[in-house]
Amino acid sequence: MSTVRSLTASCRLPRLETRMLLEQALRRPRAWLLAHDDEPLPEAAVQLFLGWVRRREAGEPMAYLLGEREFMGWVFEVTPDVLIPRPDTETLVETALDIIRDRSGVRVLDMGTGSGAIAISLALACPGAVVHASDASNAALAVARRNGERLGAAVQWRQGDWYAALADVEPGFDLIVSNPPYIACEDPHLVLGDLRFEPATALTDGADGLRDLCAIVQGAGAWLRPGGWLWLEHGWDQAPAVRALLQAHGFAEVSSRCDLAGTERISGGRL
Ligand SMILES: C[S@@+](CC[C@H](N)C(=O)[O-])C[C@H]1O[C@@H](n2cnc3c(N)ncnc32)[C@H](O)[C@@H]1O
Repeated sequence: MSTVRSLTASCRLPRLETRMLLEQALRRPRAWLLAHDDEPLPEAAVQLFLGWVRRREAGEPMAYLLGEREFMGWVFEVTPDVLIPRPDTETLVETALDIIRDRSGVRVLDMGTGSGAIAISLALACPGAVVHASDASNAALAVARRNGERLGAAVQWRQGDWYAALADVEPGFDLIVSNPPYIACEDPHLVLGDLRFEPATALTDGADGLRDLCAIVQGAGAWLRPGGWLWLEHGWDQAPAVRALLQAHGFAEVSSRCDLAGTERISGGRL
C-alpha cells in the first residue's frame, strides 16, 4: 500500500513539486499530508500522482499538471491552450493600474489575453473599469471565460486577429495593454524547458519577434482616445525597438519599465 511517506521517499522530483502534486492528487492540504503520512492512500489518487510524476520528469510544466497558476494573487486555470502567466507580466498589470485606478468608466483593452490573466486582474482591481479582451484562439478564450466567471470579473471577450476582433466595439479606449507573441521563430529557446509545451502561437509571431508588436502599435491610433495609453510587454532586448516604433507612430511620453530581474520588459506611450 502506498502512503504519503513512501511516495515522497521514492519520488525523484524536488520535494516541493512532489508535495504540490500529492496535494492535488489527493485533494488534501499540506497539513493533512503531514498528519496522515503513513495512511494507505486510495489507488486512483496514487495512479494519478504517478502519472503526473512521469509527465513532470519528461519536462511538462507544473502549471499544466496542476491545471492552475497564481497571478496577481489570483489563481487562474491554465491548460496547454494558454500561455502560463509569468510573474514578469505583473509589471504590465501594475503599470496599467497606475493609469486606471479609481477612474470609473475607464475603457481598457487587453489584446492576446490567453488565460485572461491581465484583463481579469485589471477588472478585479478596478471594478469601475470597462474591460475588453481579445484573442485569436477560441480555445484560449474558453479558458479565459471560465477564469472570468469563476473569479467574478466582468470582461467582454472577443475572438479574432488583433484589431479585427473589435468589429462591433466602439473605439476610444483609455488604455490598451498587450503581452503578444514576441519570440523570434528562430530563437533556440522555443525548443527548451516549459516553452516546448506552451502553444507556439502564444510564443512566436513566426517572424523576427517584432511583427505582432508592430501590428499592435500601428493599429492603436484608431482605437485609443487622444491622450490614451498603450503599454506592451516585449523581449529582454526589444525595448529600444518598441520605443522607436511608438515614437514613429505618434506616441509621446514613451518609456520602458523593468521586470523583477531588472530587465526592460514593458514599453509604452501616450497618444
Ligand atoms: C504571450 S501570450 C499572452 C497571454 C496572456 N495575455 C498572458 O500575458 O499570460 C500571447 C497571446 O496572443 C494570442 N495571439 C497570437 N496571435 C494573435 C493574433 N494575431 N491576434 C490576437 N491574438 C493573438 C495568443 O493566442 C496568446 O494567447
